[in-house]
Formats: sequence, structure tokens, C-alpha cells
Amino acid sequence: MSLTTIILAAGKSTRMLSLKSKILFKISAEPIIQHVYNATKKIKSNHVVCVVSNPPKELMKFIKDNKITAVNQKNPCGTADAIKAALKKIPNRAKNNILILCGDVPFISSKSLNIMIKKLNKSDLCLGTFNQENPMGYGRVVREDNKIIKIVEERDATEKIRKIPEINTGIICVKESLLRKYINKIKNNNKQKEFYLTDLISLLSDNDYKISSYSIKDELETMGINSKKDLVDLERKLLVKKATSLLDKGVLIRDVQRTDIKGDLKVQKDVDIDINCIFEDKVSIGSSTTIGHNCYLNRCKIGKNVHIKPNTIIFGATIGDNCIVGPYARIRPGAVLKNNSQVGNFVEIKNSTIGSGTKVNHLSYIGDATLGSNINVGAGCITCNYDGEKKHKTVIESDSFIGSGTRLVAPVTVARGSYIAAGSTVTKDTPGDGSLTIARSKQVSIPKWKSKSQKGKK
Ligand code: UD1
Ligand code: CA
Repeated sequence: MSLTTIILAAGKSTRMLSLKSKILFKISAEPIIQHVYNATKKIKSNHVVCVVSNPPKELMKFIKDNKITAVNQKNPCGTADAIKAALKKIPNRAKNNILILCGDVPFISSKSLNIMIKKLNKSDLCLGTFNQENPMGYGRVVREDNKIIKIVEERDATEKIRKIPEINTGIICVKESLLRKYINKIKNNNKQKEFYLTDLISLLSDNDYKISSYSIKDELETMGINSKKDLVDLERKLLVKKATSLLDKGVLIRDVQRTDIKGDLKVQKDVDIDINCIFEDKVSIGSSTTIGHNCYLNRCKIGKNVHIKPNTIIFGATIGDNCIVGPYARIRPGAVLKNNSQVGNFVEIKNSTIGSGTKVNHLSYIGDATLGSNINVGAGCITCNYDGEKKHKTVIESDSFIGSGTRLVAPVTVARGSYIAAGSTVTKDTPGDGSLTIARSKQVSIPKWKSKSQKGKK
């Protein structure tokens, strides 16, 4: 059986109190809508349609990049109206199934969706529900003799119905022919004066169609985002869950409330993570590595027995085994720190390789450079890699010593075993082999300079 997925993403986002569409807000480092779309990638959905209203450029880019069909709902007046707009863009196929997702319920899993799709084989509609301790704000599932007969929205519910803990997650899987037949029969006689898709349930139930349901197990999968409070509550819940799960697996996460794993973090044994660290995209950490507080790690690979000291930023880089990085280091894309190297405080490394045993410990900028092994780069050294038009490379061969405050004007090569005197501005390649290069103006001292000048004044 073929399947079409409709993601509902129009509407006014009134409760978000923002000029921006709510589904573009980031949660766990990605826009809300991206998470919803990710779930559809792992189901056999032939076609994904997204209902939007006056979509901003950012949303259109997302739709285009993912080859989704966009449907414009001109005047959003309810979820049923949104479905009507979508059905106009979908070829009418009697044997097709339709999966409806809410663009503001980000963490629904493809696993739950696949179960619901399967349940549709033996029913006419399958509703995703959840037993919510605090169901406020959600539509309630009303049953009679255990059969679902209707959904009542919070605003329209009686006190008795408000007490029902079973909520509508907004996720519905239904036969296309039935959806087409009954969608036009939905009226807007409710407090909001909106066309509620949820009224489809009572219409099908009244006409003796079979309504099945799947009670989703994980609350996080079912939580919708209507306000900024919903957004931060859901994000915190998700992040605490991720951190706790790693703690349970033996990662020493010092405080699960203050560790944000927003992407995919892979860790080996005996990793120790202090508070306020953020992990985004793919990050892997080798065994016995310690991450100090306030670090930001994004798309990077950290080796074994590494010490990342506090307040360090690592983005798009590879750190070998036994390295020491930070505190306050910034390791940027394309940086590779080989085993046993050290990069210290206020050092920025960009698109450069730091050889094994090499140390760049204080206040330096190393960009577009290749450093061999066992080099000592003194405090305050700068690779001058940019001439205003192009970037140039600096090469420092192994066993060299770069004195403090040296400027290496690229392109330039410091040959193996070179010594560079402190404060030099190196513009030409050095011969290496134990030689000392001094490239600074000679020091002169003017005797009695102070008293002379004072005499002049008198
Ligand atoms: C909806 C359900 C409610 C359920 C909850 C789950 C209805 C009437 N209510 O309520 O039973 O418990 O979701 O999170 O369906 N949208 C459009 N066009 C519109 C209106 C809304 O595309 O004209 C989209 C929104 O962008 C949103 C989704 O539909 O992604 C749900 O709409 P929303 O207004 O958030 O409904 P809820 O009040 O959360
Ligand atoms: Ca909602």
C-alpha cells in the first residue's frame, strides 16, 4: 500500500508570541520541522507534503532542499482546512494511505509511525495517543466501551472530559478515500471557530468505521510546541534524558541537568564530563578522556586519555590521544592535533596540523599551517596567513623552536631544527639544522636620554 505524509505546518503560531514561524525555532540544535521530517525518512512514505501559510524564505529553502511538496493554506482556519488544502495537491488514489503529522511535534519516532501504519491494515484510521499525567492543552480521547468515539479539544471540553488523561498526539494515519469523503463534512462549530481535523474521529465512529489507536510509550515523542515555554521544557526533558542514558552506561556526567547533548555523542569507557558542556552534531570521545566545564564540542573526534580543559571550543577538528587542550582554546575546522600534542590558553588553531609532541601553549594563532613533531611554539606567535586577498601556508618542520612573539609571514617554511629568536618577523625560509634566525631590528640604548630631554625642556 502506498503512503503520503502530510506535515501540518501552517497556522498563526499565536501562542509563540513571535514574528517568526514556530517550526523554525531550533530545538536540540535543529529546527523543529527538521526533526519531524527526519522521522519520515525512515518510513516508506512515497511522498511528503507540507502545509504552510505565507512561508518565510528560510522555510521555503528547507522545503526545496528536501524535495518536499509545499501547499499554501491561504487563510489558516484549522487543521481540517489544512488537510483540505493538501488533498488538492495530492493525486486522488483510492488505495493510498495518508499519514498526518504535526509540524510542531518534533520527536515522534519512525518506530511509532511504522507501528501505526501497520495498524491501519486492520482498521480505517489509527490514532496516536498518550496517557498524559498533565493533559492540559491537548485534545482528549473519548471512549465508550473502550471504542474511540470522539476527540474533544481542551477549550470545548467539559470538566469531566478534561479529566481524561488520554490525549490526541495529533498523529493520525487514515485511508485516503475516507479522508476525502469526510473532510468536507467537518464544521467549525466550536469555541475557536476553526475546522478541527479531530472531528473526523466522531464522523468515522458515527458511520461505524474501525478506529484503532496506538498508545505511544515515550512522552517526549508526543509533546507539541505551542509556546516558548513548551519549547524549553521539551528541550530540557530531552537533554536530561540523553545525559542520563549516558550516565547509566558509565559515562561520568557530573550533572545531567547541565549537560547538553544535542547531536550524536559516542563515548568510550571512563570519560568524565564536567558541567555546562554542549555537544552538537557528531562527536566521539575516546576512553579515559576528561572534558572540563563550559566546553563546546561540535563535529569532532577526540582521542583517548585527552584532557580538554575548561572553556574550550572545538569545532570540526580531530584531537589525537594524550593531548592537552585549553583552557580557553579555540580549535577550528580542519585542525588536526596529533598524539601527545598540547594547545594551551587563548590559542586559536585553524585548518592546521599540529605534530605529535608539539606544544603551542599560550596566546597564539596558527592558521593554514603544518607543524611537525616536537616543536615548541612560544607565547604570542602568529602565522600571518592572509595577505588581504589569499590565504598562504606556513610549514614548521620538526624539532624547531619558535621564540615568543614571532610572526611567520606566509608562505614560509621553517626547516627542521630551526631556532627563531623571540620577536622575529620571519619572511624568508630558514635553513634549519640547528641555525638561529633573528629577524628583528637591533636594540640600541641611548645613554642619559631622560636627563638630556629634561634639560631641553628647562
Ligand atoms: C492539535 C490537536 C489536538 C492535539 C494537539 C497535539 C486539532 C484541532 N487539535 O492541537 O487535539 O492534542 O494538536 O499536539 O487538530 N495547522 C495548520 N493549519 C491551521 C492550523 C494548524 O497547518 O489552520 C498546523 C500547525 O502548524 C500545527 C498543527 O497544525 O503544526 C496543530 O495545530 P495547533 O494549532 O498547534 O493545534 P493544537 O492546539 O496544538
Ligand atoms: Ca500544537
